[in-house]
Order: sequence, then structure tokens, then C-alpha cells
Amino acid sequence: MTTGVDLGQPQAQSVRSDEDVVRVRQLVRAVAVSVKLSLVDQTKVVTAASELARNTLVYGGGGSVEVTVVDNGRRKGVQIVFADSGPGIDDLDLAMTDGYTSGGGLGLGLSGSRRLVDEFQIETSAETGTRITVTKWSR
Ligand SMILES: Nc1ncnc2c1ncn2[C@@H]1O[C@H](COP(=O)(O)OP(=O)(O)OP(=O)(O)O)[C@@H](O)[C@H]1O
Ligand SMILES: [Mg+2]
Repeated sequence: MTTGVDLGQPQAQSVRSDEDVVRVRQLVRAVAVSVKLSLVDQTKVVTAASELARNTLVYGGGGSVEVTVVDNGRRKGVQIVFADSGPGIDDLDLAMTDGYTSGGGLGLGLSGSRRLVDEFQIETSAETGTRITVTKWSR
């Protein structure tokens, strides 16, 4: 019997409300601690997760988040997948630009999140919605 977070077992959180965004933050923080990210890196990945989960809620119409401990043989990390079945992002280059918002935001969520993590991948279409995968490695 082991304690803590199992390698490779995703932990899921639905994103339907502001409270769920808080739960995503808490889950990501716990997993980041378990893979021994520094306090600064914990805060970076929690901040990115908060922004992306908020986008899932606001623009995606809600969705799900999965948090997984990953291991590349040298380091452990936290990988987070944000998925929604919303309208997709029409112009991804524009959406990734600092300051671009289609709503009333600051337009820093996507671009800022990308800078806060080590790996950042977006798949988006009008048919399937938006799926963003980010990874932060311990160092
Ligand atoms: N999951 C999503 N589905 C559809 N569109 C999205 C999604 N996430 C982001 N977008 C689009 O990308 C734009 C930029 O997102 P970003 O998070 O950078 O800024 P914002 O949410 O508008 O403002 P901020 O996050 O700074 O408050 C959004 O305004 C929205 O048009
Ligand atoms: Mg945003």
C-alpha cells in the first residue's frame, strides 16, 4: 500500500462552476507537491491551471480536467488535460496573443499559461471542442 499520488493514474475533476475551478487549483497543488515541484513552480502550474480551467468554464461551457503524475525516466512532473465540447478556438494564433480577448478579460490566460509551464499543446476544432495539455517537470 502506498500513500500519495499514484504514477499514471489520472485524477479527474469536472468544471461546471467557480467552486470546481477552486477544486482544480487544490488538486493541481496537491499533485505538484507530491512530485516535489519547488514552491515557485507549484504556484506557476496552479496559476496556469486556474486560467485554463476558467477558460474551460467560461468559453467551453464547462468540461473536465484530468491531472496525472508523469515520469520521463529522469524527472517527475504533473500533466494536466483541460477538455471541453464548446465552440473551439477559431483563430488560435490570435487567441494566443497577449492581450487578445473575445470577452471582457485581460487576454492573458492562454499566453500567460504557456509561459508558466514546460509543455503546452492545444487541439481545437468547432466539431470536437478544445483540449489543452500542459506539463510541468520537477527540476
Ligand atoms: N476553451 C476555450 N474554448 C473556446 N474559446 C476559448 C477557450 N479558451 C480560450 N478561448 C478564446 O481565447 C481567447 C483568449 O483566452 P485568454 O484566456 O488568453 O483570455 P481571456 O479569457 O479572454 O482573458 P483572461 O484569461 O486574461 O481573463 C478568449 O477570449 C476566447 O475567445
Ligand atoms: Mg482566460
